[in-house]
Amino acid sequence: MNDAKEKLIFALDVDNLDAARSWVEQLQGQVGLFKIGKQLFTKCGPEVVNLVQDGGGDVFLDLKYHDIPNTVAMAGLEALRLGVKMFNVHALGGFEMMAKLVSEVDKVCPRGNPDRPVMLAVTILTSSNQETLRGVGIDRPVEVMVPKLAKLAKDAGMDGVVASPKEVGLIRDACGEDFAIVTPGVRPTFASQDDQKRVTTPGDALRAGADYLVIGRPISAAADPAAAARMILEEMQAALEGSSAVLGDS
Ligand code: C5P
Repeated sequence: MNDAKEKLIFALDVDNLDAARSWVEQLQGQVGLFKIGKQLFTKCGPEVVNLVQDGGGDVFLDLKYHDIPNTVAMAGLEALRLGVKMFNVHALGGFEMMAKLVSEVDKVCPRGNPDRPVMLAVTILTSSNQETLRGVGIDRPVEVMVPKLAKLAKDAGMDGVVASPKEVGLIRDACGEDFAIVTPGVRPTFASQDDQKRVTTPGDALRAGADYLVIGRPISAAADPAAAARMILEEMQAALEGSSAVLGDS
């Protein structure tokens, strides 16, 4: 999958159906997925998922499930029935929670079925630091916890993780190539950093080994969002062609 568009996820960080519809109309065809998070889903519910799909877009349902195994598995099955292409859980929910989700999804939509969503685990939120972890009784460093949780997710049968672009190398080392890495915190050079602290350009994130990039405000806050999306896609495409040329040479 070396098409930049398929790897670009737009963060649909709005709070109503009209705004969501307007972004889908503007960007459909320029981005691979629209990410629907907790605020928009809590406000609008499955209707906003249907709206994106009716507009021709695909959905990453970013609800980060974390609960007892059966509850997470049942929620995952509902996400599957909604037809989303990607959804996520917290790896801190543990091996059994993730393995139960995978086995329930296997029963209705086995691996290889085109309708099977990509199931991701969040390792340690990038808003958490060492102090946050210590506050909940975890004394190990973030750089140890992130690959440990990524490997746990892989062993449980999950398809990949959401992680900071800075963590891609650690995760690749722990989990190998056949594991999706989705990274937010991406800023093209033409955009403001906003409240993101540790940012990476789209090209650098892909060269580091990320498979999908989540990008919101560099597109939504641009004077011409469609043009901003195009510039990001060009940078992504150049990085992808650069890396495939290197692979081709070897
Ligand atoms: O506007 P921006 O490009 O910063 O949006 C990034 C999106 O990715 C937002 O929806 C944000 O909630 C999400 N996200 C993030 N950092 C994480 C996890 C998710 O920025 N560690």
